[in-house]
Order: sequence, then C-alpha cells, then structure tokens
Amino acid sequence: MTKPIFVLGGPNLNLLGTREPEIYGRETLADIEARLAGQAGPGSLVFRQTNDEGQLVDWIQEASRDGAALILNAAGYTHTSVAIRDALSACTVPVVEVHLSNPAAREGFRQVNHVAPVANATIAGLGAFGYQLALDAARYLVSEKGQPEP
Ligand code: DQA
Repeated sequence: MTKPIFVLGGPNLNLLGTREPEIYGRETLADIEARLAGQAGPGSLVFRQTNDEGQLVDWIQEASRDGAALILNAAGYTHTSVAIRDALSACTVPVVEVHLSNPAAREGFRQVNHVAPVANATIAGLGAFGYQLALDAARYLVSEKGQPEP
C-alpha cells in the first residue's frame, strides 16, 4: 500500500474563513481539505490541524515514519519553534512548507523562519491555491523525477 502524504497545520488555522479574511481568504480549513482530498484521491492524504506545538512535533515524527511526504503550514510556530525545526531536520521524507500569505512581505517578526531552511520547498502568498501546488510539489519530490542526482 502506498504511504499517504501528511498535510499538517499549526495554530489558528482552525479559524480560517473568519480569521483576518483580507489576509488569509474566506475558505475554511475544511474547504481546503475537501479540495485537496479530491485532487489526491481516496486514502492518499492525512490532513490534521493543531494549536499545540508538541502535538505538531509528534505528527511530524509520524509523517516521517509512516508518510511519503509532508506538507506543513506551521503558522505562528514557523517564526518561533526550534522544536519544530529540529523535528523537520530529523524528518526523512520530503517537506513542502506552505503559507496562505507571504510572510516575507509582512511584519518584521515574520522574517524569522525556522522552517524554510529545513524544507525542500516553500510556497507562499497564493492563498488556498498554494495547497494544491504544494500537493503537486510533494508528489514531484517523491517521484523518481524529484530524486537528487546520484
Ligand atoms: C501563515 C503565516 C504566519 O505568519 C501566521 O502566523 C499564520 C499563517 C500563513 O499561512 O500565511 O498563522 O502561516
């Protein structure tokens, strides 16, 4: 059986749809999950969100063990969490970082990013559409085409 792609979300993403819609859009996390599940096909995604840093670390470890790749929006923890960076450094499957907004074009405190240096790719600033691109990117990275030259 093929391993699933893990799609993990960090704090406050459960509020998508009503949280600062001018920045994050009007789609809910359930909308994003439904579209992605349709794109990925049955049983090929594990889609989860938590507001808890330790839970996210546990799920990153699980993705590395049981998944084919990881798509991660660590949300606010992107800018603060050494623990999440360490979990990603230990992760043995491809990691695609995704953000709805473009943190690089926002406040100064968002210019610190602990995830990007240990991710294979980053997609930011495209709203919910970025998740579709992230799924394509994750599949590309797990395919033979995405493997580094020997
Ligand atoms: C976010 C960007 C982060 O800076 C912010 O803390 C979030 C959401 C995004 O998807 O644009 O919670 O990760």
